[in-house]
Amino acid sequence: MTAPRHRPTGRLRFSDGSKPSIRGIARELGARVVTTAYRRMLFMSYPLRGIRIPVYNAGADVSFGILEPKDIDAYLRFRPATSGREVERRMLHGDRCFVSWLSDNIVDACWTATSTVYVPYMRRLLHIPEGDVYSYDSFTTLSHRGRGLYMARNSFTARTHQSEGLRRSIALVAYENYSAWLILTRSGLKTLGAYHYLRTPLKGIYWETTEPGQVLPLMTSPREPGTSMATAIGAASKI
Ligand SMILES: CC(C)(COP(=O)(O)OP(=O)(O)OC[C@H]1O[C@@H](n2cnc3c(N)ncnc32)[C@H](O)[C@@H]1OP(=O)(O)O)[C@@H](O)C(=O)NCCC(=O)NCCS
Repeated sequence: MTAPRHRPTGRLRFSDGSKPSIRGIARELGARVVTTAYRRMLFMSYPLRGIRIPVYNAGADVSFGILEPKDIDAYLRFRPATSGREVERRMLHGDRCFVSWLSDNIVDACWTATSTVYVPYMRRLLHIPEGDVYSYDSFTTLSHRGRGLYMARNSFTARTHQSEGLRRSIALVAYENYSAWLILTRSGLKTLGAYHYLRTPLKGIYWETTEPGQVLPLMTSPREPGTSMATAIGAASKI
């Protein structure tokens, strides 16, 4: 068996918000310099069909649900840097937000999409294949991190998608976003390949690499004929 080709080393990595150190700053600086010219996003996937999804208990008395329009104010209290218009745009696009409620407050959430999404980091549209569901903008409030909320809500999300007949859960993570890759890997996602983007004047150069036998979903330019930003505008994917 050959070793997976798409395993980040973590040598150059974006900060995960932990206490800064000289080494951490050097790693982050290196990552910023490299990704100014060359960007990679790892494509990760978790099969939903024919498996028993583990159920995790959160270390807080939370209940899980899907964000409704009447909950937008609660969401904005949880993510003050996100605008109400952005939340509405995501909802209009058909995206859903799975949330963890602690009493009347949201303390953790993640968005999911099943149609085309715009990936700003790559300046491309990701065409989500039928049966796939794409997760983005996962966030746990600082005061509640490290209590298993993400794992528990993620399991609820995956079980909901499974019960709806979806085939697999997919995500993109920047190669330099090492902590996020570790967390997604711990959650059971496998890295199937990578999208590459060399930033050049004009269009840039794009290519893909995959693990043996894998095929990645299509990524296209928003300017390509037949692709409309209007259908993708709601979903801004985070690195
Ligand atoms: C990532 C994030 C959602 C995790 O939330 P959380 O509720 O604290 O996560 P959990 O307590 O459920 O832990 C999830 C797993 O990830 C691990 N983990 C959490 N933060 C980590 C970090 N910075 N580096 C490596 N592993 C980490 C935990 O150890 C746990 O694994 P384990 O069950 O094998 O021990 C939260 O830290 C966050 O909001 N970060 C900022 C946004 C972000 O990075 N989003 C991308 C997520 S992929």
